[in-house]
Amino acid sequence: MSKNYDVLLKILLLGDSGVGKTSLICRYVDDDVRATHVATIGIDFKLKTVDVGDKRVRMQIWDTAGQERFETLTTQYYRKAQGILLVYDVTSGRSFKNVRRWLASIEENASQNIKRLIVGNKSDMLVGREVTVKQGKQLASEYKLPFMEVSALKNTNVSEAFGALAGLVVNQQSGTEPAKQVERRETIQLQPQSSKDEGGCSC
Ligand code: GTP
Repeated sequence: MSKNYDVLLKILLLGDSGVGKTSLICRYVDDDVRATHVATIGIDFKLKTVDVGDKRVRMQIWDTAGQERFETLTTQYYRKAQGILLVYDVTSGRSFKNVRRWLASIEENASQNIKRLIVGNKSDMLVGREVTVKQGKQLASEYKLPFMEVSALKNTNVSEAFGALAGLVVNQQSGTEPAKQVERRETIQLQPQSSKDEGGCSC
Protein backbone atom coordinates (compact mmCIF):
# COMPACT_ATOMS: atom_id res chain seq x y z
CA MET A 1 0.00 0.00 0.00
CA SER A 2 1.53 3.37 -0.97
CA LYS A 3 1.78 6.02 1.71
CA ASN A 4 0.04 9.32 1.05
CA TYR A 5 2.53 11.56 2.88
CA ASP A 6 6.17 12.58 2.53
CA VAL A 7 7.11 12.94 6.17
CA LEU A 8 5.92 11.32 9.38
CA LEU A 9 6.26 13.57 12.42
CA LYS A 10 5.86 12.58 16.03
CA ILE A 11 4.71 15.50 18.14
CA LEU A 12 4.32 15.31 21.90
CA LEU A 13 2.23 17.58 24.13
CA LEU A 14 3.58 18.14 27.63
CA GLY A 15 2.50 20.28 30.55
CA ASP A 16 0.75 20.10 33.92
CA SER A 17 -2.55 18.34 34.36
CA GLY A 18 -5.49 20.51 33.30
CA VAL A 19 -3.59 23.02 31.15
CA GLY A 20 -5.57 21.88 28.09
CA LYS A 21 -3.35 19.45 26.18
CA THR A 22 -6.20 17.13 25.21
CA SER A 23 -8.39 20.11 24.35
CA LEU A 24 -5.74 21.53 22.01
CA ILE A 25 -5.38 18.21 20.21
CA CYS A 26 -9.16 17.76 19.95
CA ARG A 27 -9.53 21.29 18.60
CA TYR A 28 -6.74 20.79 16.07
CA VAL A 29 -7.69 17.33 14.84
CA ASP A 30 -11.46 17.19 15.33
CA ASP A 31 -12.34 20.90 15.67
CA ASP A 32 -14.05 20.11 18.94
CA VAL A 33 -13.36 20.59 22.65
CA ARG A 34 -14.89 19.09 25.73
CA ALA A 35 -16.08 21.30 28.54
CA THR A 36 -14.98 19.12 31.43
CA HIS A 37 -11.56 17.97 32.49
CA VAL A 38 -11.19 14.22 32.10
CA ALA A 39 -7.60 13.51 33.06
CA THR A 40 -5.67 11.60 30.43
CA ILE A 41 -4.58 8.19 31.62
CA GLY A 42 -1.09 7.41 30.39
CA ILE A 43 -0.71 8.31 26.74
CA ASP A 44 -2.84 8.47 23.57
CA PHE A 45 -2.43 9.79 20.04
CA LYS A 46 -4.34 11.25 17.10
CA LEU A 47 -3.33 11.67 13.46
CA LYS A 48 -3.55 14.68 11.21
CA THR A 49 -2.12 15.25 7.75
CA VAL A 50 -1.12 18.78 6.73
CA ASP A 51 0.87 20.48 4.00
CA VAL A 52 4.03 22.22 5.18
CA GLY A 53 5.55 24.01 2.20
CA ASP A 54 5.70 21.42 -0.58
CA LYS A 55 5.68 18.49 1.85
CA ARG A 56 2.69 16.37 2.83
CA VAL A 57 3.21 15.80 6.53
CA ARG A 58 1.48 13.18 8.62
CA MET A 59 1.49 14.26 12.24
CA GLN A 60 1.21 11.69 14.97
CA ILE A 61 0.20 13.83 17.92
CA TRP A 62 0.80 12.24 21.30
CA ASP A 63 -1.28 13.36 24.26
CA THR A 64 0.37 12.75 27.62
CA ALA A 65 -1.05 12.68 31.12
CA GLY A 66 0.08 15.75 33.07
CA GLN A 67 -0.26 14.00 36.42
CA GLU A 68 3.08 13.23 38.05
CA ARG A 69 2.18 9.60 38.68
CA PHE A 70 2.47 8.97 34.91
CA GLU A 71 5.86 10.63 34.55
CA THR A 72 7.87 7.40 34.28
CA LEU A 73 5.59 6.20 31.49
CA THR A 74 5.43 9.46 29.53
CA THR A 75 9.17 10.20 29.62
CA GLN A 76 9.69 7.00 27.64
CA TYR A 77 7.97 8.70 24.69
CA TYR A 78 10.16 11.81 24.66
CA ARG A 79 12.95 10.23 22.65
CA LYS A 80 10.58 9.08 19.90
CA ALA A 81 9.32 12.62 19.31
CA GLN A 82 10.73 15.20 16.91
CA GLY A 83 8.71 18.09 18.32
CA ILE A 84 7.24 19.07 21.67
CA LEU A 85 4.43 21.51 22.35
CA LEU A 86 4.99 22.55 25.96
CA VAL A 87 1.72 23.88 27.36
CA TYR A 88 0.94 25.98 30.40
CA ASP A 89 -2.33 27.60 31.48
CA VAL A 90 -2.33 31.43 31.63
CA THR A 91 -4.70 31.23 34.62
CA SER A 92 -2.29 29.01 36.55
CA GLY A 93 0.96 30.52 37.79
CA ARG A 94 1.92 27.09 39.04
CA SER A 95 1.67 25.51 35.58
CA PHE A 96 3.81 28.38 34.25
CA LYS A 97 6.41 27.88 37.00
CA ASN A 98 6.50 24.20 36.14
CA VAL A 99 7.48 24.94 32.51
CA ARG A 100 11.08 25.04 33.78
CA ARG A 101 10.65 21.60 35.31
CA TRP A 102 9.20 20.26 32.02
CA LEU A 103 12.10 21.79 30.08
CA ALA A 104 14.59 20.10 32.42
CA SER A 105 12.80 16.80 31.92
CA ILE A 106 12.92 17.28 28.12
CA GLU A 107 16.63 18.06 28.37
CA GLU A 108 17.13 14.86 30.29
CA ASN A 109 14.93 12.52 28.26
CA ALA A 110 14.46 13.81 24.70
CA SER A 111 16.85 13.80 21.77
CA GLN A 112 19.21 16.77 21.66
CA ASN A 113 17.87 18.39 18.49
CA ILE A 114 14.19 18.15 19.44
CA LYS A 115 12.14 21.18 18.45
CA ARG A 116 10.15 22.87 21.20
CA LEU A 117 7.39 25.47 21.23
CA ILE A 118 6.01 26.97 24.44
CA VAL A 119 2.29 27.79 24.41
CA GLY A 120 0.20 29.59 27.01
CA ASN A 121 -3.31 28.14 26.67
CA LYS A 122 -6.68 29.61 27.76
CA SER A 123 -5.88 33.08 26.38
CA ASP A 124 -9.68 33.59 26.20
CA MET A 125 -9.85 33.89 30.00
CA LEU A 126 -10.32 37.57 30.73
CA VAL A 127 -10.78 36.97 34.45
CA GLY A 128 -8.34 34.94 36.51
CA ARG A 129 -5.24 35.40 34.38
CA GLU A 130 -2.10 34.83 36.45
CA VAL A 131 0.53 34.91 33.69
CA THR A 132 0.99 37.88 31.36
CA VAL A 133 1.97 37.63 27.69
CA LYS A 134 5.18 39.46 28.62
CA GLN A 135 6.10 36.83 31.20
CA GLY A 136 5.48 34.07 28.65
CA LYS A 137 7.67 35.81 26.08
CA GLN A 138 10.41 36.43 28.63
CA LEU A 139 10.57 32.81 29.72
CA ALA A 140 10.63 31.60 26.11
CA SER A 141 13.37 34.02 25.12
CA GLU A 142 15.42 32.97 28.16
CA TYR A 143 15.45 29.46 26.67
CA LYS A 144 15.66 30.81 23.08
CA LEU A 145 12.38 29.13 22.22
CA PRO A 146 9.40 30.31 20.19
CA PHE A 147 6.23 31.22 22.07
CA MET A 148 2.53 31.74 21.41
CA GLU A 149 -0.61 32.26 23.42
CA VAL A 150 -3.48 30.08 22.25
CA SER A 151 -7.04 29.16 23.13
CA ALA A 152 -8.40 25.68 22.49
CA LEU A 153 -11.83 26.93 23.53
CA LYS A 154 -11.98 29.86 21.11
CA ASN A 155 -9.78 28.21 18.50
CA THR A 156 -7.20 30.99 18.60
CA ASN A 157 -3.73 30.24 17.21
CA VAL A 158 -4.24 26.46 17.55
CA SER A 159 -3.48 25.44 13.96
CA GLU A 160 -0.77 28.12 13.90
CA ALA A 161 0.96 26.53 16.90
CA PHE A 162 0.87 22.98 15.54
CA GLY A 163 1.77 24.22 12.05
CA ALA A 164 4.69 26.23 13.39
CA LEU A 165 6.07 23.25 15.28
CA ALA A 166 5.68 20.99 12.24
CA GLY A 167 7.43 23.66 10.16
CA LEU A 168 10.35 23.82 12.57
CA VAL A 169 10.86 20.06 12.38
CA VAL A 170 10.39 19.79 8.60
CA ASN A 171 12.71 22.72 7.90
CA GLN A 172 15.33 21.26 10.19
CA GLN A 173 15.08 17.86 8.50
CA SER A 174 15.26 19.28 4.98
CA GLY A 175 17.99 21.72 6.01
CA THR A 176 16.17 24.64 4.40
CA GLU A 177 16.42 26.83 7.46
CA PRO A 178 19.15 26.91 10.09
CA ALA A 179 17.63 25.58 13.32
CA LYS A 180 19.04 28.30 15.57
CA GLN A 181 17.71 31.07 13.39
CA VAL A 182 14.18 29.67 13.63
CA GLU A 183 14.40 29.12 17.36
CA ARG A 184 15.11 32.77 18.06
CA ARG A 185 11.81 33.90 16.56
CA GLU A 186 8.99 34.46 18.96
CA THR A 187 6.20 34.40 16.41
CA ILE A 188 6.33 32.06 13.48
CA GLN A 189 4.48 32.85 10.31
CA LEU A 190 4.53 29.37 8.85
CA GLN A 191 1.08 27.90 8.55
CA PRO A 192 -0.24 24.71 6.99
CA GLN A 193 -1.92 25.44 3.68
CA SER A 194 -4.46 22.68 3.86
CA SER A 195 -5.30 19.92 6.21
CA LYS A 196 -7.16 16.67 6.44
CA ASP A 197 -8.52 15.37 9.74
CA GLU A 198 -8.08 11.78 10.64
CA GLY A 199 -9.32 9.61 13.39
CA GLY A 200 -12.60 9.69 15.25
CA CYS A 201 -13.30 12.22 17.92
CA SER A 202 -13.04 11.01 21.47
CA CYS A 203 -13.36 14.55 22.79
P1 GTP B 1 -4.49 16.05 31.75
O1 GTP B 1 -5.04 15.02 30.81
O2 GTP B 1 -4.91 15.79 33.17
O3 GTP B 1 -3.01 16.19 31.65
O4 GTP B 1 -5.17 17.48 31.36
P2 GTP B 1 -5.11 18.28 29.98
O5 GTP B 1 -3.91 19.15 29.97
O6 GTP B 1 -5.26 17.34 28.83
O7 GTP B 1 -6.38 19.26 30.10
P3 GTP B 1 -7.80 19.17 29.34
O8 GTP B 1 -7.65 19.32 27.87
O9 GTP B 1 -8.55 17.98 29.83
O10 GTP B 1 -8.48 20.53 29.86
C1 GTP B 1 -8.66 20.81 31.24
C2 GTP B 1 -9.82 21.81 31.41
O11 GTP B 1 -9.47 23.06 30.83
C3 GTP B 1 -11.14 21.37 30.74
O12 GTP B 1 -12.21 21.69 31.60
C4 GTP B 1 -11.19 22.20 29.47
O13 GTP B 1 -12.51 22.46 29.04
C5 GTP B 1 -10.49 23.49 29.92
N1 GTP B 1 -9.85 24.17 28.79
C6 GTP B 1 -8.99 23.62 27.89
N2 GTP B 1 -8.59 24.53 26.99
C7 GTP B 1 -9.21 25.70 27.33
C8 GTP B 1 -9.19 27.02 26.78
O14 GTP B 1 -8.54 27.35 25.77
N3 GTP B 1 -9.93 27.96 27.43
C9 GTP B 1 -10.67 27.68 28.56
N4 GTP B 1 -11.33 28.67 29.12
N5 GTP B 1 -10.73 26.44 29.08
C10 GTP B 1 -10.00 25.47 28.48
